[in-house]
Amino acid sequence: MGITILPNAGPLLPNARSRARRYVMCPPRFFDVAYRINPWMDPGRPVDRERARRQWSGLRRTLEDLGHEVEIAEPGAGLPDMVFAANSALVIGDRVLAARMATPERRGEEARYRTWFASRGFERVLVPEFVNEGEGDFVLVGGRLLAGFGFRTDRRSHDEAAEWFERPVTSLRLVDPRRYHLDLALAALDDHSIVYSPTAFDEPSRRALAKLFPDALLACHLDAEGLGLNLLSDGVHVVLPASAPGLASELSQRGYIPVPVDLSEIEKAGGSVKCCVLELHP
Ligand code: ARG
Repeated sequence: MGITILPNAGPLLPNARSRARRYVMCPPRFFDVAYRINPWMDPGRPVDRERARRQWSGLRRTLEDLGHEVEIAEPGAGLPDMVFAANSALVIGDRVLAARMATPERRGEEARYRTWFASRGFERVLVPEFVNEGEGDFVLVGGRLLAGFGFRTDRRSHDEAAEWFERPVTSLRLVDPRRYHLDLALAALDDHSIVYSPTAFDEPSRRALAKLFPDALLACHLDAEGLGLNLLSDGVHVVLPASAPGLASELSQRGYIPVPVDLSEIEKAGGSVKCCVLELHP
């Protein structure tokens, strides 16, 4: 099965350029919805693990077909959310800010991912003092970090990140429990552009975003109030949940090429495309 590329309805972006990325993914071998730590999770609803595995493989293949490199971290038994590799860390260059999970259910993932970073030769790993759920709540746009708080990540970890990566960090307060991580409310489209859903943020955060990114794409479609914004862009192609066709058409009007991927089984745990992928930023 190849990738589906929707017709590009809008004018091509003047400086559109895709950049090959390095990603980390973790197969959903032990995937399950065994507890409820976000409003999407219903442990009473059955999960088809084989279907989750096929969908996850489809995402991996899509990213590889687009020319990106995907490295694999091995999952651990009894860690059903470990498929959400985005939560494992924030990695920029040779520096890793390891995650410290907010919920006891996920804390077992921390050491496994740290072992993986060590096995890949990363030596500069900060084991944090405060809770941060990795790229779930940190989004890198150009040189700047946007950082979410309000549900999972502790705001004090934003200072830890600013110091460790020597970069400006803008703190944004999340207010919608269904979008409990920043990567469910906002995504980088390239080094200068973002797409976000204003209703996921408090008023001061909206003002900060409007000031920093006056040309941002404001996601208006209802899709953006679900998991739609949990997307991954290489600057041109935007891999996004198939469950968000309205958002796909907003993106294509802006000149991006939407590439929908069906992750419906994994979405039962409250995460989609971006949650399944950690980027190793150069
Ligand atoms: N069940 C997981 C949790 O609640 C989903 C994580 C989604 N990850 C993300 N980067 N938004 O922690």
